[in-house]
Amino acid sequence: MKDQMLNLLKQENILSEEEAKKINELNEEKILEYILKLGSQNNEKIDEIKNYLTTNYIGRDIYYYDEILSTNSLAKYLAGIGIEEGTVIIAGSQTKGRGRSGKSWESPKGGGIWLSIVIKPDIPLNYASFITLASGVAVCKKLREMGVDAKIKWPNDILINGKKVSGVLTEAKITFNKLDYVVVGIGIDTDIDVEDLPETLKEGVTNLNDEVKEYKSNNEIIAMVLNEFEKIYEIFENGEYETILSQWRNLSATIGSEVIVNQPLGIVIKGYALGINREGNLILEKDDGELVKIIGGELRHKDHVY
Ligand code: BTN
Repeated sequence: MKDQMLNLLKQENILSEEEAKKINELNEEKILEYILKLGSQNNEKIDEIKNYLTTNYIGRDIYYYDEILSTNSLAKYLAGIGIEEGTVIIAGSQTKGRGRSGKSWESPKGGGIWLSIVIKPDIPLNYASFITLASGVAVCKKLREMGVDAKIKWPNDILINGKKVSGVLTEAKITFNKLDYVVVGIGIDTDIDVEDLPETLKEGVTNLNDEVKEYKSNNEIIAMVLNEFEKIYEIFENGEYETILSQWRNLSATIGSEVIVNQPLGIVIKGYALGINREGNLILEKDDGELVKIIGGELRHKDHVY
């Protein structure tokens, strides 16, 4: 088991070589203790976030790392060894931040909010995709409270004036048709230097702090998002999927837009977004009137860079 844990840590690049060497001699309990201790040192930051929290369990345990490879990778690892539901992992910066569709996610120090929430929903597997929609709704609602016209691009990118400000990566572990855990990774560009981004991203990305009317610190925004996330997660756990769908539809930038979807094997589908169905799939009407159901892929609004 210990070897398995160390392999996982190495495989997922959670610890640096130096750190891995240090913990090599510890037993598995101590390794966990070590990782959690590393994440408990910035008490000031953690306490400030907790001061704004009104949740019962989301964010009651927070671990903060100045620099880590990816909060999602560490959260998945910790979820796999039984960490509590609601645990939140936050990073000052990520050196291997991950986005959807295998893309990387720029997460420099001081550039934004990079966090992951561990949940263990007891729901039928076919409703798992609602977590993706629900997470987008939680982030979008809170950004709107700061006076910006934030909208959701299917399934859960958050846009302000057509530019991306936030993305969500949900990753699940499933055994025997049951969800073991889900990690919801949220990235919000609050203060990223757009000029430092790769050429392909510059045009389509914006910063929350450049757009808001009402400035808030990252710690407060983190707590606001966690508070909202717990609310919508409860709606989700109660099986009120229609409520999530209608909230998502109300915030959607995609419904009513011409879109282009790039799918695996170079397949490109273009059409008019009519809406989302009960499974959270996007329904497109192609130029010839044919209706198609979009389950995944990279979507772009025809009139936006993103
Ligand atoms: C996207 O492609 O839009 C999703 C981006 C998700 C980024 C966040 S940042 C915190 C968490 N850790 C990661 O490695 N990715 C997610």
